[in-house]
Amino acid sequence: MIEAALLGAGGRGMFAYASYALKRPDDIQFVAVAEPNEERRAMFARLHRIPAERTFASWQELLAQPQLCRALLVCTQDNDHYEPAMKALEAGYDLLLEKPMANDPLQALRIAERADRLGRTLTVCHTMRYSTFFRKLKELTDSGAIGRILSIQWTENVGYWHQAHSFVRGNWRRADETSPMILAKCCHDMDMLQHIVGGECVRVSSFGSLSYFRRDQAPEGSTERCTDGCQVERTCPFSAIKWYYNEKDQWPQNVVSLTPTLEARWKALQEGPYGRCVFRCDNDVVDHQVVNLLFDNEVTVAFTMTAFTTDNTRSLKIMGTNGEIRGYDALNELEVIRFSGERWKVAPERVEGGHAGADTMIMADFVQQLASGDTLGKSPGLVSARSHLIAFAAERSRLSGQTVVMSDYVRELQQEQEGGARP
Ligand SMILES: NC(=O)c1ccc[n+]([C@@H]2O[C@H](COP(=O)([O-])OP(=O)(O)OC[C@H]3O[C@@H](n4cnc5c(N)ncnc54)[C@H](O)[C@@H]3O)[C@@H](O)[C@H]2O)c1
Repeated sequence: MIEAALLGAGGRGMFAYASYALKRPDDIQFVAVAEPNEERRAMFARLHRIPAERTFASWQELLAQPQLCRALLVCTQDNDHYEPAMKALEAGYDLLLEKPMANDPLQALRIAERADRLGRTLTVCHTMRYSTFFRKLKELTDSGAIGRILSIQWTENVGYWHQAHSFVRGNWRRADETSPMILAKCCHDMDMLQHIVGGECVRVSSFGSLSYFRRDQAPEGSTERCTDGCQVERTCPFSAIKWYYNEKDQWPQNVVSLTPTLEARWKALQEGPYGRCVFRCDNDVVDHQVVNLLFDNEVTVAFTMTAFTTDNTRSLKIMGTNGEIRGYDALNELEVIRFSGERWKVAPERVEGGHAGADTMIMADFVQQLASGDTLGKSPGLVSARSHLIAFAAERSRLSGQTVVMSDYVRELQQEQEGGARP
């Protein structure tokens, strides 16, 4: 049985991952937690029976202790991954690290290099690597079913409500506080694309902007908050009252208030970030972006991330010299169509749990890795860091209007590292 500590008992730490230990106490148990929010800390300690002396108000306090156990889960916010991850690796912990590894490309590389140098396990939570849908897709492309892959169309359908929740009102609305959206939302896609294509990405170009969730787009009659007597609230698809004023005890409602009562929800809508009008927030991340990638094996990728979709899914078409694969993860369906006329559908096995079971699989794999040294996810730190670099390069291209040549970009980062320009 593995003993673990958690940094950040929020949506991911407490619900997506640590809940695994409650179902499988023979595999893993949590023996310490660091969380500044008292309500969450107390809830986590109660659920996992952690004594008061093993609960801490910050990761800084927990990591100031001698090593408490073997494994550590870093589930704090994006801008609080680098420092705890580096300290924890040095202290001897094996890590499960939430994505993005860091919100700076050099820091992502440094975490991976340090884990490598110290021989620690480093699992980066690229959920798509663990989903049965994307594992089946990889199996199909590797089997040669459509010949040599040359073109890929891939869309991250963010979903209008998910955009509003996370990227307009919520935690990932500002690039300076967390990460650019292409990193926060799509480092998974960059990782999976790199995994499927099987080559090195050599050029990246990107365009996109924040065009809709802005003050100048606010409808007449709308107010600062949905609870302020907004005249269009009843017909607005983004109405906070419609989405959050209920007693559901699940994501995304439990982000608005941990207590699932109407009273707590109403108070949160009147006072907290999630009651704000989507056209009157302080968000600056894009609401649509395209990225073009060229790989060294001549594969080209056209990737779209957009808020303006009904659901939060991925749709894709992989095109090869003998046929194509069409996929839509919401339907759990992959279709292979060969130029010879053969066609068949595949429905990957469904697994219980968040992200179509991938959250459960990540924990199962992490435990298995620690127990045996094997990994099912196969996303070692340096591979993850490389896929993060593609997302960072896409943001650089979007902002500069220039195509980024990856070898120049990496050289520049290496020079920066040697020059010690950043901590
Ligand atoms: N793998 C995925 O698919 C996926 C999905 C969603 C989010 N994420 C990532 O997971 C991470 C956590 O996201 P979340 O939704 O759980 O956010 P969250 O805000 O719910 O949780 C973060 C927690 O960290 C706590 N915290 C803040 N400062 C701390 C400190 N000094 N020490 C210890 N804890 C501290 C916060 O109080 C909060 O409870 C983010 O980096 C996010 O980008 C990954």
